[in-house]
Formats: sequence, structure tokens, C-alpha cells
Amino acid sequence: MNKNFWNEQIEKHWKLAFLAPMDGYGDSAYRQSMKRIAPHIYCISEFYSADGLVHSKFLAGSVLPHKEIEKPLIVQIFWKDPKKFAEAAKIIESYGVSGIDINMGCPAKKVVRSGHGSSLLINEQTAFDIVKALDESTSLPVSVKTRLSFDGNQDLIAFAQWLQKAWAKLITIHWRTAKQAYTWKADFTNIYELKRNLDIPVICNGDVLSYTDGMKKVQNLDGFMIWRCSFWNPWCFLWENHLSDEEKKYTLNNVYQPTLEEMLLAMEFHASQLVATKWERKGSLEIRKHLVQYLKSFPGVKEYRKRLVTTESIDETKETINDIRTSFQVSLQKRPWLGEIS
Ligand SMILES: Cc1cc2nc3c(=O)[nH]c(=O)nc-3n(C[C@H](O)[C@H](O)[C@H](O)COP(=O)(O)O)c2cc1C
Repeated sequence: MNKNFWNEQIEKHWKLAFLAPMDGYGDSAYRQSMKRIAPHIYCISEFYSADGLVHSKFLAGSVLPHKEIEKPLIVQIFWKDPKKFAEAAKIIESYGVSGIDINMGCPAKKVVRSGHGSSLLINEQTAFDIVKALDESTSLPVSVKTRLSFDGNQDLIAFAQWLQKAWAKLITIHWRTAKQAYTWKADFTNIYELKRNLDIPVICNGDVLSYTDGMKKVQNLDGFMIWRCSFWNPWCFLWENHLSDEEKKYTLNNVYQPTLEEMLLAMEFHASQLVATKWERKGSLEIRKHLVQYLKSFPGVKEYRKRLVTTESIDETKETINDIRTSFQVSLQKRPWLGEIS
């Protein structure tokens, strides 16, 4: 791996599309499910504590192994002690990932109170020391995901330039401050301005709805990152050049709308990967929250959604998916989100 990784990717692909890190969601099975549909995206893992990875072989051995399809994988970590980051880097690097991202954006009270995540926005020296220590301890490129500011009173440009000086190789900005809730008024003005004052790649994040929407909003930036919309429609990372002429007929707000059968296959894939990576019990409980998202409401599906949120085993999950297949046999090639199932 090399420190110039991000510049090389931008040279090759111009604008980069990322699957955002998501605690409790962005595990290997989720990433595989997304890459199966959109192989061109870059995945960042959910965040892990640097301290946890250093002290628990079990944690490292459970969350760092990944499949070929997920590559190039970036692992995100959080903590506050630069030495811990350096120790964690050695472990992460041994799993063959392509980069390490530092979480400087998490607004959760517990995380902020203990000096991690977004609190680094107001502890600039520690933020600098972390990036520098991490950069010196690994041959992987180090990136940072942060927010516009902590509470609206910090200077984003000065902070990002400071991190660039510590050898951060890419920075992602979630457009909200750490104090803001999830409002829907994405405004990337400050991020466009940041890019004009920085030499490293800048990625925008927050309320990007799809690949097409990201390409509209990206402007002078180097890429965009999506989470919530991937959860609602895993096809959101495809745009018209990824679609055949036939598939182009089935888009809504520029996002491809899959057939019921395509959705069921995606659900089966996700469920089997989750069980394969987390074992039967944990995997079949965790898959519940994902499966209901695939199957948004359409007439007659409510009963199966109810079953999917109470399944206890992979067999039960597969059986429910097969029952949907049988009940909707005549509609398998129809597209529920286009209102084709009545
Ligand atoms: C449940 C949840 C978990 C998240 N986990 C992480 C995380 O582990 N690391 C991180 O940097 N951001 C995390 N985020 C923030 C997202 O990566 C992203 O910045 C945010 O959802 C805005 O993007 P979106 O509008 O596309 O959803 C999380 C957000 C949510 C709601």
C-alpha cells in the first residue's frame, strides 16, 4: 500500500463515491451487499476503538477480516491517545486494508465526554498528534472524517490545514456541526471553500441522496459519501452509465428501482453473509433491522415484514423470503417502489 493511494484513485476515477461508516450497520456483510450491487464504491468500516483493537484479539479477529469484494477497504478507528492509534495501526495493517480513517465527528455524548470523536474538533493539538502518530506508524494513507465544526465556533479551514500538516491524506466533512441534529438542509458552501484552501482531497457528506445527486453536489470536491440512502435503496450508488438501456426505464429520482426478485436476492445474499461472518445466532438477529428496509411497504407485504423482524435463525429468514416469493410469484419481475404491485 502507499501513501499516495487517494491521489491515484482520483487520477483514475476523477470523483469518488463512498459508503459512509455506520456503527452497528457497516460491517463486512453490509459492505459486501453494497459492493455486489455497486462495485465502484469505496467502503469505510464502522468505527472501532483503537484501544479495543489493541487489547482484544477477539475484536480484531472478528471485525478486521474482510472479503476480496470489499477491497479497497478503509478501517475507521476512534480514541484519544496517539500511542494507541499507532499500536492499532500495526494490527489493522496486518489485515491487508487500504487505509485508516480517524473518527473526529461522532457527536454521541459518551464519546465526546471521554475526549474522542467530535471533541477532537476542540482539542486541535491532540487531533494533530493523533494524525501524525498514526501516519508515522503505518504505510497506509491516513484520512479523517469530521464535521463542519463542534458547535459553530471553530474555524474549519484552520483545523483541516492543521491536519494536512500532520500528513492527513484525505478529509471528509459531514456538513453538520456536532451539535446539530439530523435536519435536511444540506449546504456544502463551507466545504467548497475548504477545498480551495487545501491540497489534499476533500469529500462531502450529509444528505446525499444518490450517485446522481452526489455528482451534482460534488462540484470542486473529490467525492461524496452516502449512508442513509444506501440503507433505503442499495441501488442508489448506480447512475445511468451503470445501467443498461432497459434498466434506465426503471428509475425514480435518478435511482434504479429493482424488481421484487432482485430485492429478494439481495436480502438472501445479505442474510447469508451476515450469518457467515457473525455466526448463526448473532447474524440472524442482526439481519432483522436490515431486511425490513429492503422491503418497503407495498400491498400484501406487511405480514412478511412482521415475520422478518422476529426471525430467530437463518432458516426461518430464508423460509420467510421464500414464502414472499411464492405469494408474489406473478409479481416477481415487478417493481414495488414504482407502485407496480397492487
Ligand atoms: C446509526 C449511525 C451510525 C453512524 N456511525 C458512524 C461511524 O461509525 N463513523 C462515522 O464517522 N460516522 C458515523 N455515522 C455518520 C454517518 O457516517 C454520516 O456521516 C451521516 O449519516 C450523514 O450522512 P447521510 O446523510 O448520507 O446519512 C453514523 C450515523 C448514524 C445515524
